Amino acid sequence: MENEKLLYIHIPFCDSKCNYCAFNSYTNLNHLKKIYFEALKKQWNVEKKDIDNIYTVFIGGGTPSTMPISFYEKLFSLLSPYLSNTKEITIECNPNVSYEWLKEIKNMGVTRISFGVQSFNKEKLKFLNRNHSPKQAINAVENAFKAGFENINLDLIYSTAMDTKNLLENDIKTAFSLPVTHISAYSLTIEKNTKWEGDFSKRKYNEDMEIWFIEKIKEKFFQYEISNFGNPCLHNLGYWEGKEYTAIGAGAVGFKKCKMKNEKLKMKRYYTKQDVYKYLKNPTKYKFEHLFDEDIKKEKVFLGLRSIVGFDESILNEEEKKRVDILISENKLIKKENRIFSKDFLLADAITNFILV
Ligand SMILES: C[S@@+](CC[C@H](N)C(=O)[O-])C[C@H]1O[C@@H](n2cnc3c(N)ncnc32)[C@H](O)[C@@H]1O
Ligand code: SF4
Repeated sequence: MENEKLLYIHIPFCDSKCNYCAFNSYTNLNHLKKIYFEALKKQWNVEKKDIDNIYTVFIGGGTPSTMPISFYEKLFSLLSPYLSNTKEITIECNPNVSYEWLKEIKNMGVTRISFGVQSFNKEKLKFLNRNHSPKQAINAVENAFKAGFENINLDLIYSTAMDTKNLLENDIKTAFSLPVTHISAYSLTIEKNTKWEGDFSKRKYNEDMEIWFIEKIKEKFFQYEISNFGNPCLHNLGYWEGKEYTAIGAGAVGFKKCKMKNEKLKMKRYYTKQDVYKYLKNPTKYKFEHLFDEDIKKEKVFLGLRSIVGFDESILNEEEKKRVDILISENKLIKKENRIFSKDFLLADAITNFILV
């Protein structure tokens, strides 16, 4: 369809801040929640001019479940003219969300729910500074199922200092016993501007255990990307396929064709103001990132090799194609109708660097 885009909406509010998290989220700005909608509306009214249909929506954060249902009533009434052919609407939730909230958000047309569970182990949740208990996580998934959600994801974090095979096995067992259709499993990264900045003792990297953990998840769920297993999330697949995405909210990042003075139409990435006060003041003040053809090519190769998306061989030059042939003969890559796919998503970095030098 002409002018079909993915839509990402960022909610920068959280009830508490997790020790590892560098997402653009705040616990002390709750008083801005009411006026946040007005800024989203302003930005959407500009962006919608380029859109006929929204392919998928992803409401992420921060913690979207900290917003009241009345906020989403207003938001969906803005978006509804563009949602008639929408394939998926995902919302991220903290497990402390209530059944009533889940039921109401389901009735508004949200089709996919994603819980930030991280672990079902009480001590590990405390270590991460999560504000929910294992029981709340279990109840949240069961409530989402009871509310009628057929697509339920839970996020897990591994390679933390607390992890043992036993602990991770229990996390997997509990996840498998619940009505979830998807797992996102993230290896802990130590990020700047977090409580754990610079403290690598919080991470325990053990390659054998990482591989073992991934293989365990694969016993039940199909791996379609380095960190994602199960019924694929169409929105995320869209990112990896290089589709255009509109992004609204503080610190949101979009990707669209645009034209600057004396320039041809080009793909650009744009960034809204990260600071919530600045965003509220001027929600359409963007910083544009110019993307060179080489950058776009590298992204296509890298994102394609991390997932089942693969990439089209025709984007490579002759030398690069020769290197792909070497990797095919070594059984690291496979070729199907001119598309190249990786046999092991974990090698995506190294293979991209080898092909593109
Ligand atoms: C926006 S949060 C999910 C929704 C909600 N805020 C919550 O946490 O319940 C996105 C996910 O990113 C993952 N994540 C964030 N920071 C991470 C880090 N430093 N290392 C690994 N995973 C991380 C967590 O699994 C988290 O659930
Ligand atoms: S992981 Fe989720 S709940 Fe925790 S601080 Fe980050 S966005 Fe907020």
